[in-house]
Amino acid sequence: MRKVSIIGAGNVGSTLASLIALNELAHVVMVDVVQDMPKGKALDMMQMMAVFNNSIKIVGSNDYQDIKGSDIVVITAGIARKPGMSREDLLNTNSNIMKEVVENVRKYASNSIVIVVSNPLDVMTYLAYKILKNYGWNRFNVMGMAGVLDSARFKYFISEKLGVSLDNINALVLGSHGDTMVPVLTHTTISGIPIEKMLKKEELKELVERTRNGGAEIVSLLKTGSAYYAPAASTLEMIKSIIFDKKQILPVSVYCEGEYGYDDLVIGLPVVLGSKGIEKVVEIDLSDFEKEELNKSAQKIKQLCQELYTLNIV
Ligand code: APR
Repeated sequence: MRKVSIIGAGNVGSTLASLIALNELAHVVMVDVVQDMPKGKALDMMQMMAVFNNSIKIVGSNDYQDIKGSDIVVITAGIARKPGMSREDLLNTNSNIMKEVVENVRKYASNSIVIVVSNPLDVMTYLAYKILKNYGWNRFNVMGMAGVLDSARFKYFISEKLGVSLDNINALVLGSHGDTMVPVLTHTTISGIPIEKMLKKEELKELVERTRNGGAEIVSLLKTGSAYYAPAASTLEMIKSIIFDKKQILPVSVYCEGEYGYDDLVIGLPVVLGSKGIEKVVEIDLSDFEKEELNKSAQKIKQLCQELYTLNIV
């Protein structure tokens, strides 16, 4: 049985743990800085497993030693932006959390594939990779979860608008996990029919905007906290492709060395995901407009990553 460790037993982390367990994919360890809380959640989940006579083990812990031997480590630790907090403050706080987490991952789970979920996603993945590459990880086994979630949101909005089954829709969102993300219309199809033939320009523009604000829309409805069911499910999709060596083509945040013309940058691109992590970045044709949009997204990520250097974080 595989072992998946989740750092940060908050909303995304604990939802993911229960999804992994319910699907009987792997034993799960949740580690959090909050005393005892992960133990309480794990106990509750183990009792849920007892209802289903499911023998998956779920451990909650405050001790990183428990992540030893993990095949996959998912990092969801971090804090959300609080009122009065600048973007720089958030970057600083979450970067320090990420550094502490990654230090423990390299110490105790040296053979793991790392999936970053903490925000700001592209920057946190960049930071994790920059540290881990000094300890034997390569750019294809440290990655960020964003594109699967953003594509699922886009797909949901399309299905709602057209009243067609989700099964028939192939939606693709690339770029940063933020307001410059790029829903790729030229590669979004309904039963093979390009979306641009099914919806008017204005309608598409609305769906693109709603997708870009997908996270914010949920934040404003929840009042406290942010989305976690779909983020956890999207991470599960990546984990399945890795555990079962499915080699799915999924949009994943990946450190680029020349792909799509980008260097020293983590950005969401289509990749083949298998048991060793990312097997390759898939280069697809984009329209001039899409290329321009992806470049804007890359620029925005570069600027944010630059702050890591300005703030002496890397
Ligand atoms: N080590 C371990 N865990 C930590 C640390 C740390 N240094 N700092 C914070 N945490 C934990 C918190 O205690 C909390 O339980 O991370 C968890 C984060 O959980 P939530 O606040 O519920 O946030 P969640 O909704 O799960 O989102 C997690 O994913 O989607 C992104 O933007 C989101 O960055 C956020 C992350």
